[in-house]
Amino acid sequence: MPPRKLIHHSRPRTNPLVWCAAILCTIISIAVIITGIVVFIGYLIIHPRVPVISVINANLDRMLYDPAGLLETQITIVVRMKNDNQKAHASFSETKLSLLFDGLTIAILRADPFDVRKNSSVDFNYVVQSNPIPLDPEQQELVDMSLKEDRITFVLKGSARARWRIGPLGSVKFWSHLNCQLRFHPLNGTWIPSRCSSKAK
Ligand SMILES: *[C@@H]1O[C@H](CO)[C@@H](O)[C@H](O)[C@H]1NC(C)=O
Ligand SMILES: *[C@@H]1O[C@H](CO)[C@@H](O)[C@H](O)[C@H]1NC(C)=O
Repeated sequence: MPPRKLIHHSRPRTNPLVWCAAILCTIISIAVIITGIVVFIGYLIIHPRVPVISVINANLDRMLYDPAGLLETQITIVVRMKNDNQKAHASFSETKLSLLFDGLTIAILRADPFDVRKNSSVDFNYVVQSNPIPLDPEQQELVDMSLKEDRITFVLKGSARARWRIGPLGSVKFWSHLNCQLRFHPLNGTWIPSRCSSKAK
């Protein structure tokens, strides 16, 4: 009978520092999970919706076109800032929209920071007056053609920064972008309504 071998397994001793690290990691993981759950529930309750910028009305009040190539316009644009959130006020800041004609910025529309209550909207009535703007020959041709066809196109684009305060969790920030065409009948100044909204279709 072969002699039995005595096998002694000595378990490696765990360093107390490793224990500390493991406990710390566990606590941090639990904290992260709890924070995630709280934010997720907050999100479900508040259900933040991105505020929407849209043009609800416009009018080409005046359009002077001088054969020397100077274009002067006055356009009224009614911009609606809508906060669809049922449970959070929205604060808007850095609102800046540019009005362009054939890539040429003719005016800038701004708004001071403002608040929109829950489930409501604020309308801004902009009367945008441009200084006489010199056009290059190609742009002059474009204006001639627009007058002939009784249809002129401007572009309105820009953005606003929106923020919702979500109780003790802080706030959510978001940029709303607008980029659309504004078309008018230059002979009577009527707006040709078309969709102009920051909301994705
Ligand atoms: C939000 O506004 C819409 C239309 O203005 C209204 O029909 C709706 O009842 C409002 N919801 C709440 C929760 O106030
Ligand atoms: C302006 O002119 C267009 C095209 O001729 C016409 O369709 C539109 O009804 C006119 N608008 C007004 C307010 O007269």
